[in-house]
Amino acid sequence: LAVVQPHGDLAGLTVTVTTGGTREPIDPVRYLGNRSSGRQGAAVALAAADRGATVTLIAAHVDDGVLDAASRHTAITVHRVSSTAELKAATDAAAAASDVIVMVAAVADYRVAGVSDHKLRKEDGAPRLELVENPDILAGLVEARHAGQTVVGFAAETAADDGELLERGRAKRTRKGVDLLAVNRVGWEAGFESGTNRLVVLDTAGAVVADVDGSKREAAEALWDAALAVHAGRVG
Ligand code: CTP
Ligand code: CA
Repeated sequence: LAVVQPHGDLAGLTVTVTTGGTREPIDPVRYLGNRSSGRQGAAVALAAADRGATVTLIAAHVDDGVLDAASRHTAITVHRVSSTAELKAATDAAAAASDVIVMVAAVADYRVAGVSDHKLRKEDGAPRLELVENPDILAGLVEARHAGQTVVGFAAETAADDGELLERGRAKRTRKGVDLLAVNRVGWEAGFESGTNRLVVLDTAGAVVADVDGSKREAAEALWDAALAVHAGRVG
């Protein structure tokens, strides 16, 4: 086995990428979850590794097939997690030593209070789930960010048109305090579980620094072009 020398424009950078969707247990056999496949985050990790970065990919409920190439890449370490609490612990640990952090994962906003230790039964009547808000992992990363660290968020938004998409994206970018926010429009059909993606990347001024309509790999490459430019500005 040949030793692969890091090369490419991300050589020397350590990055953390999260992907997939967290699940919050209701009882031993049921959960609250979302439709994120983890494909976009896997593509972001692969693109970074192929461009020379050392990558930690933290995956929440991503099919083996989606992680296949990433798992075999010598520059990528894959960690699997389930709940938002597990994702937060793994991400915080990896992020501390990372130059760039990209939060692609779809994080459950709420978890169930008082998870049942036995399977809920119909004879007990319709369950009344009490939900409590999960910690915002991204906000924590922004808070803990040190000089020279770049933090990138993702936002999947339903919007009537491009104007509303950008408006929502800019508001979220400001609220989150991230260096870049990658926004994509989702609906019942588009975005989730699909092979292609349109991604619009916003910077701290709200400017569109990338607008790519193509494969998730192409979207990932454009995202890294933008992230590298921002990162070079922070470090240099
Ligand atoms: N995120 C996070 N922790 C959470 C919720 C979201 O780290 N508890 C991250 C996601 O990984 C993503 C970004 O925040 O990178 C935006 O997620 P999104 O769900 O769009 O934002 P929210 O602040 O949860 O707002 P809302 O769901 O109300 O639109
Ligand atoms: Ca959310």
